[in-house]
Amino acid sequence: MSSELDLDLAVIGGGGHVGLPLSLLFADCGRSTAIIDTDARKVDLIRSGQMPFMEDDAPEMLKRTLASGKLTATTDVAVIARARFIICIIGTPVDEHLNPNFTGIRNALEAARAHFRDGQIFILRSTVFPGVSEHTQRFFDGLGKRVHVAFCPERVAQGVSLREFRTLPQIISAFDPEILAEVRRLFSAFVPEFLELTPIEAELCKLMTNAWRYLQFAAVNQFYMIARDRGLDFDRILHSCRHNYPRMASMPGPGFAAGPCLVKDTMQLAAFSQDRFVLGHTAMLINEGLPSFIVDQASRQVNLREARAGILGMAFKAGSDDRRDSLAYKLKKLLMLHAKEVLCTDPYVQDESLVPLERVLEQADVLFVATPHQQYRKLRVPPGKPVFDVWSALPKGNQ
Ligand SMILES: NC(=O)c1ccc[n+]([C@@H]2O[C@H](COP(=O)([O-])OP(=O)(O)OC[C@H]3O[C@@H](n4cnc5c(N)ncnc54)[C@H](O)[C@@H]3O)[C@@H](O)[C@H]2O)c1
Repeated sequence: MSSELDLDLAVIGGGGHVGLPLSLLFADCGRSTAIIDTDARKVDLIRSGQMPFMEDDAPEMLKRTLASGKLTATTDVAVIARARFIICIIGTPVDEHLNPNFTGIRNALEAARAHFRDGQIFILRSTVFPGVSEHTQRFFDGLGKRVHVAFCPERVAQGVSLREFRTLPQIISAFDPEILAEVRRLFSAFVPEFLELTPIEAELCKLMTNAWRYLQFAAVNQFYMIARDRGLDFDRILHSCRHNYPRMASMPGPGFAAGPCLVKDTMQLAAFSQDRFVLGHTAMLINEGLPSFIVDQASRQVNLREARAGILGMAFKAGSDDRRDSLAYKLKKLLMLHAKEVLCTDPYVQDESLVPLERVLEQADVLFVATPHQQYRKLRVPPGKPVFDVWSALPKGNQ
């Protein structure tokens, strides 16, 4: 390995929801880490010691790692030429037809092609369509560079990733046993346990993990719709399904299954199975249909045309400021068609159209809980106001 490789790590997409916490942790463990991100606003924020989004424990770690000099951030891909390991953790969305989209990773590779050097290890960490690791290795082989590809999927949950990095087993894979050993050494800085797979096994394992969660949410959401359709209290049924019955302990509650990962990874798996993953497609129809089901339920009780609807929570999950692919926005769209007016609120999401919680509580005629933020757990709704709370986030007496 050349002595000119004076950085331990360069993280492509290091300003992102999982790239930034990962960069922080490596830097905090003493590894010189350069964040590379095309988003200049995020890079400026990071350099000035501000987190671009919410993440537990990250603000202090950001300040600490900047002060120690172990963390830097730039938009300049040329910094890749200085790094021994390059981690790529950019977004891998599906396209408007729900097909996997390879252009993000391809563009990132092309943009940096002049800066890769013999002996580097390129660790793909985005959730990718099976075969992308091999494709990436072929890209480097085609360049005539001895850059070695590994695939080490990210499995933490954003918001709590700094805790999970230190507790979850890390899946590692590579095309060469020596590279696998190097990658294991790198992550040993904080990872408690490793699982070794081949790259295609690891790619599938990550997709199946997310698809499994998505299927579980779909199952319970369908149970919820079956019960609610008959006017039954699903909470009572769910409680009795789970109570002191270990085989049902992992049954989740109903709610909006959304966000930037679960749907798109289920669709990536569906595409990989040549669209024979019927369970995945069915799960999508159920989960994506839940907002519409709730609006339909509300329209049976409330004259929505004359009503002002209020939505509590716009983030895709509780305790988050992330609105990416949040079903709260789908609910809003539907209510804009059906109701007189829609007022939305969220304690964390930055969106100019949102209004304070008090105003929603006071002015809305009917309320919908779209995100079960902690702030709503003790909320008292003005008497007589109908509430549609699929999560059962509000105290029981409100419904
Ligand atoms: N968010 C999660 O909880 C989570 C968990 C596990 C895995 N993942 C996977 O991790 C990947 C990243 O997800 P995310 O939520 O962090 O996305 P994100 O959009 O928050 O972050 C991606 C970052 O990459 C940057 N970027 C895009 N193209 C670039 C390029 N060519 N060069 C440099 N920077 C570039 C973007 O500006 C952004 O800051 C996805 O594949 C996702 O499926 C996400």
